[in-house]
Amino acid sequence: MTSETFQLELAAAEAYEERFVPAIFAEWAQVLVTEAGVAPGQRVLDVACGTGIAARRAAEIAGAPAVTGVDINDAMLKVAARIRPDITWLLGDAAALPLPDADFDTVLCQMALMFFPDPAGALREMGRVASVGGTIAAAVPGRLEDQPAYGPFVEMVARHAGAEAMSLLSVYWACGDPERLQRLFAEAGLTVTAIRTHVGTARYASADDFVVGEVESTPLMDRLTPEQYAQVRLGAKAVLQPFTDRDGSVAAPLHGLIIVARR
Ligand SMILES: C[S@@+](CC[C@H](N)C(=O)[O-])C[C@H]1O[C@@H](n2cnc3c(N)ncnc32)[C@H](O)[C@@H]1O
Repeated sequence: MTSETFQLELAAAEAYEERFVPAIFAEWAQVLVTEAGVAPGQRVLDVACGTGIAARRAAEIAGAPAVTGVDINDAMLKVAARIRPDITWLLGDAAALPLPDADFDTVLCQMALMFFPDPAGALREMGRVASVGGTIAAAVPGRLEDQPAYGPFVEMVARHAGAEAMSLLSVYWACGDPERLQRLFAEAGLTVTAIRTHVGTARYASADDFVVGEVESTPLMDRLTPEQYAQVRLGAKAVLQPFTDRDGSVAAPLHGLIIVARR
């Protein structure tokens, strides 16, 4: 990777922390840490930690020296380390965690399982690094058909940009079927103890800002012509209207699943 590419990635990771963490992910981190039962004295791992919001919430309870975050993207980890240098941050793939067996009481994975090529394999890895009887807890977005704001938004984008666009955006919702999610955990040899829906909120300053956040930061952006992008921005105002406040800000419900299992 050239240093120029890395600087771009670093800027994107800083933007992720500044924009998406408060707008979407901070709320989920609180819920995930609570549902996982993170407690003082536990050793906690955050897999695909990004800029580290779930690890930071866990550190508030378990203490920073007991918490480790792993991510495949070095730029994300640089931002994580800038914010909390006292937490351990490791570069690594969820498919082959750079950690010994049975080293953690709780393993968290927030809003990332759907991106892994082999989610059951990654869950098996999470089980491997968890102690016997330890907890593995994940948060994933729910099914697209259960999303009152994102569903119509993605359909509208697909109408303007074609089916390929739909398939690019569909990865986010790929683990959202509760039966499939439980099967993945079972395949990984984990015993599911709880699964529930949580409805979070994605907050944006405007419908335009929603499009910038949800489209410009994805590979879809490169595939849209300027005309298609203009249509998407116009369409977003209409489909997000039920979630738009008088001041123009958007609060879009995000249905997700929180699943907790034991090794
Ligand atoms: C939507 S972000 C979620 C980050 C963080 N958990 C949060 O809630 O803010 C998805 C993260 O998954 C990471 N990721 C994707 N594939 C990965 C893999 N195979 N191993 C480790 N991390 C991965 C990305 O680098 C990114 O930081």
